[in-house]
Amino acid sequence: MTSTNDNPLREGVRLERTADPCTVIIFGASGDLTKRKLVPALYRLTQEGLLPAEFAILGFARSKMSHDEFRARMKDAIATYSEAKSVDETVWESFAKGIYYLAGDINNPESYKEMSALLDQIDGERGTAGNRVFYLSTSPTFYSEAVAQLGAAGLARPEGKGWTRIIIEKPFGHSLESARELNVDVAKVFNEDQVYRIDHYLGKETVQNLMVFRFANGIFEPIWNRRYIDHVQITNAESIGVEDRGGYYDTSGVLRDMIQNHVFQVLSHVVMEPPMEFSAGEVRDEKIKAMRAVRPIPRDRVNEFVVRGQYGPGSVGGKSAAGYREEKDVKPESATETYAALKLYFDNWRWAGVPFYLRSAKRMPKRVTEIAIHFKQAPHMLFSETTAQQIEPNVLVVRIQPDEGITMRIGAKVPGQVTRIRWVNMDFRYGASFGVASPEAYERLLLDCILGDATLYARRDMTERGWEIVMPILEAWQEAKPDFPNYEAGSWGPKAADDLLEREGRRWRRP
Ligand code: BG6
Repeated sequence: MTSTNDNPLREGVRLERTADPCTVIIFGASGDLTKRKLVPALYRLTQEGLLPAEFAILGFARSKMSHDEFRARMKDAIATYSEAKSVDETVWESFAKGIYYLAGDINNPESYKEMSALLDQIDGERGTAGNRVFYLSTSPTFYSEAVAQLGAAGLARPEGKGWTRIIIEKPFGHSLESARELNVDVAKVFNEDQVYRIDHYLGKETVQNLMVFRFANGIFEPIWNRRYIDHVQITNAESIGVEDRGGYYDTSGVLRDMIQNHVFQVLSHVVMEPPMEFSAGEVRDEKIKAMRAVRPIPRDRVNEFVVRGQYGPGSVGGKSAAGYREEKDVKPESATETYAALKLYFDNWRWAGVPFYLRSAKRMPKRVTEIAIHFKQAPHMLFSETTAQQIEPNVLVVRIQPDEGITMRIGAKVPGQVTRIRWVNMDFRYGASFGVASPEAYERLLLDCILGDATLYARRDMTERGWEIVMPILEAWQEAKPDFPNYEAGSWGPKAADDLLEREGRRWRRP
């Protein structure tokens, strides 16, 4: 399959949307995310011509630094972390003029006064018209304080001075209770339509394509239900371990870090009903409606539905890998899970009785995220018994990363005098069809926020629903000591996870 359009994604964006002048204020400007993702994404949007000339970035953090020092750091960051791994001097020159820095203390009202004055100055110098995006990318323990201070300083809803939005990085809470508290604190200061809770999986091209695939094609929706689908598997495997994030990860684990947010967001795109229109309200209404149908997992039966694991030493990609408990900043007796597999049911007409198996883990043999829709067998078999034994169900695989694409596995006759069946793939690959790399998730999401489009951001109710679903699991796990480590780094996880499917006559895919 090839496309006749050079770059349909970019063209579409250019034609349909124009970003307002604005300033993006980054809290946590000396942190990792700023240099790895945020500034490279904003630079790239500038390079693509998707941001106006009247644009500025204000970095805010505790370390003392001049504007120029911050600019130099950001230039290095772009050279190191942007996809091109280089900086275009012409683009940089105008981009750099819009970069400012303010050293301050999140807890100190004086810092917000300075910020307010500097923002007015930037509006004057850059023509940013009082439009502001505050980006919270600090440790989450500061979120409520930062929001309250912004409110107290009159920065949350400045009267008659353009628009104000706030992006909140993950993790959004550590439990249902803390997520609710944070939502309440945020709602005291900002209206919900100003709040953009980021989940970078929603910015991934293939996740967005799921909606196009389901709702722009007439042929899939009629079979996208319990009559034709046997079960669904969502795999989110990472080959990396916890790297230098052991301190954070050991208080989190994969259920909190990946499943209640990213994996559930992907899942909601698979299970939702068609929205009336492609708008933030309608799309997010359908997603939450679908997720409300998740059958609660009873706390005393968690073991029937969920498996947890933690990697021990092993080898990944031919290199030996330490066990989780030996990683930096991880407790030697840690009970934190680096693997989780769940079985969920949806109590609604479309999905009644269809199991959804989800798994997410670190230190798997490879990095792969995919959704596999396993269809039911053909209802009546025409072929001889031996041929029939070769029959497998059809599987539709949506590959989210890497090698983004969609594959349909079908049985085909092997050429020859006898009827033999072989399983072959009908393939669509992004790379081959469009010939352009998909934009980084952060580019799309930052641009959407500047454009005022919250469709690909998590709404308040969805963040809380994710926690509601996982809380009984977290609570049950706290009560029982796990038998960790229970899988080798570089393997596909604990045996109990295979059993979860095998006792129902099914198997995990080996992607
Ligand atoms: C982050 C998690 O949200 O997502 C990390 O905190 C994880 O633990 C990362 O590695 C995975 O993102 P991606 O885009 O590489 O799949």
